[in-house]
Amino acid sequence: MSEQPARPVSRSAIDNHVYKVFPNDMNAHNTVFGGMIMAKCDRLALVVAERHSGHVCVTAAVDSISFRAPAKGNDTLLFSLSLNRSWGSSMEIGARVMAENSYNGDTRHILSAYYTFVALDDHGRPVPVPAVQPDTHTEERRFRDAQIRRQGRLNTRDQLADQA
Ligand SMILES: CC(C)(COP(=O)(O)OP(=O)(O)OC[C@H]1O[C@@H](n2cnc3c(N)ncnc32)[C@H](O)[C@@H]1OP(=O)(O)O)[C@@H](O)C(=O)NCCC(=O)NCCS
Repeated sequence: MSEQPARPVSRSAIDNHVYKVFPNDMNAHNTVFGGMIMAKCDRLALVVAERHSGHVCVTAAVDSISFRAPAKGNDTLLFSLSLNRSWGSSMEIGARVMAENSYNGDTRHILSAYYTFVALDDHGRPVPVPAVQPDTHTEERRFRDAQIRRQGRLNTRDQLADQA
């Protein structure tokens, strides 16, 4: 962990980033193409990681990605992402995407996912990042749960390495 002081979740969080769906976002099933939503999430999660760490970051892993409901033409997508926890050089960022019907205000939960980013120094080597200071009950719960998910990710990585 870095010697730098812990940083609050709010310092790097993205809350309800708005994306208006247009016809070129649709798949052959006439719902919003999931790959577009995933790519936007990855890009926004990168911003959270770079705001928190102050370094160039790369995606190390994405897990628990799930599409809860389809997004449709005319929906407005709302992307919210925040840092759950950091360790040595890595950080877990939680992403949640809602679809809003902007005509009547109805919302639906479209996607949840967890991204792991690693901060890199000028030579492309992992570099320590500041700790996270959770301030709310929700942030504390996410902070605790992130440790359990990290263990699962690293176990999977080690098992795959053993089989290689
Ligand atoms: C991510 C990457 C930098 C890690 O490098 P590495 O040589 O494995 O470095 P280390 O083993 O020292 O691990 C560095 C950190 O990454 C974490 N990490 C590595 N692989 C991981 C995985 N599969 N899941 C979760 N965390 C992982 C480690 O836990 C460690 O975190 P910590 O410092 O907080 O403990 C390297 O694997 C890489 O460059 N991958 C490609 C990234 C990429 O191209 N992304 C897509 C484009 S952005």
